[in-house]
Amino acid sequence: MNILGISAGFHDAAATVIDGHGEIVYASHAERYSKIKNDPNLHPTMFWDLTEGRHIDHIAYYETPWKKQLRQLYSGQGIEWSQLTARQVLKKQLQGYFTGVPVSAHSHHMSHAAAGFQTSPFKRATVVVIDAIGEWDTISIWGAHYVNGRAQYHKLWGQQYPHSIGLFYSAMTDRIGLRPMDEEYITMGMSAYGRQAPRLVPAIRRDFLQSVNQVEFCQNLHAGIDPDYMSEETPEDIANATQIVTEELIYTVMQRARDFGWSSNLCYMGGVALNCLANRNLSEYFENVWIMPNPGDAGSSLGAAALAWGGPVNFTNAFLGRDIPGAYPVDDIVNSLLHDKICGVASGRAEFGPRALGNRSLLADPRGPDIKDRVNEIKRRQQFRPFAPVVLEEYADLYFDIPDGFCDTSYMQVVGRCRRPDLFPAITHVDGTSRIQTVPANGTGIRRLLEKWYKQTGCPMLLNTSLNIRGEPMVNDRTDADRFEQLYGVRVHS
Ligand SMILES: [Fe+2]
Repeated sequence: MNILGISAGFHDAAATVIDGHGEIVYASHAERYSKIKNDPNLHPTMFWDLTEGRHIDHIAYYETPWKKQLRQLYSGQGIEWSQLTARQVLKKQLQGYFTGVPVSAHSHHMSHAAAGFQTSPFKRATVVVIDAIGEWDTISIWGAHYVNGRAQYHKLWGQQYPHSIGLFYSAMTDRIGLRPMDEEYITMGMSAYGRQAPRLVPAIRRDFLQSVNQVEFCQNLHAGIDPDYMSEETPEDIANATQIVTEELIYTVMQRARDFGWSSNLCYMGGVALNCLANRNLSEYFENVWIMPNPGDAGSSLGAAALAWGGPVNFTNAFLGRDIPGAYPVDDIVNSLLHDKICGVASGRAEFGPRALGNRSLLADPRGPDIKDRVNEIKRRQQFRPFAPVVLEEYADLYFDIPDGFCDTSYMQVVGRCRRPDLFPAITHVDGTSRIQTVPANGTGIRRLLEKWYKQTGCPMLLNTSLNIRGEPMVNDRTDADRFEQLYGVRVHS
């Protein structure tokens, strides 16, 4: 029994295969194959990887197309009559592959919820989903548990379009000149520079919010906001005030979710769960927190497959995509880092989710004042943005205050205060925090690399950023890695 989960047609299309034992045998993004960032459509070359001789017995789609079409009609986006059923959408997306395979369609928010709960270590959990927009729901709170081994979801509360925290954040991202539905992470990074911003918070509340408690907005932010809104203010201050108001709304939802008393375990999903700055305070509301490392719509390909499967899904790490075979090149990387301080790695299975976690990474020696500029020269990204540290788990406490509650801090999902910004300025943001990735003793390539690096240098940490050519998705195969080497003159080890 192999179940293929699909999320496609909007942005960042993805596919996941779960086998008859609840193992994830494949999960990846279409963009890695088509080389088009956030590609909304599946790409035929990924079908070879996801099947690898397997027979697909069932296809699960991540939302209910007619409900989404109805919402799009309501929001003035028109209706596509040829895309009202999952079968119609899949006929277009699958391009003649997997014909005749039974299909099921699941609700958008329940697919998010399942991607969280069924990959979590919990038998019972409160699930919170916060995103921009899917069908109608924009926020949902669920009580989840297993009955006779099958996941059950009870909806406890919801908010609907056009009242949306994600749309608010995207509209403000657009207002400060960044790409909405793509560059929200830059807004978040920029927010640390807004020192004058708290004074803007009451105005933003007044101008956009009807009720903080109910998360109701007084205007539909789907079409963006007046480009001259707060025209006297700096983008940094607007970003900071936006982050403050967003956190206030998220924590209001978390408080509400906790007050249902369903469970002290939280599974948090939806694109807003990528806001690793807001995530630092989740333990004030729940004892244990799990965020599946791909909480946005692409991760819902896994969620839809999990709903069709029914039981718990074994999630051990995010290395689930295209394989570059061969032993992880530990010695080559250490030698490169000792001589050049920077090198790339493209080895093993590619990461599922937006973060490079060690298999498609650009790595650097994090010590010293000059490394950030050198990596930025290659990445050509805004100078103000820091890079993330990847650190041996057992030494992480020496260098960072890691927020409580997270079941797993190996996915760069939360920020913590860096205790030694003097030693590691490249991985410390202006507000003194770092976006932490810890690596437990799990035998992965990145773990063995850190162990050897530590043995040689006494430093248990590396700088880790995604291996991608500017404007393109992460490197997927060796051909992409060769292009990277040629363009930037940096060795990429496989
Ligand atoms: Fe979503």
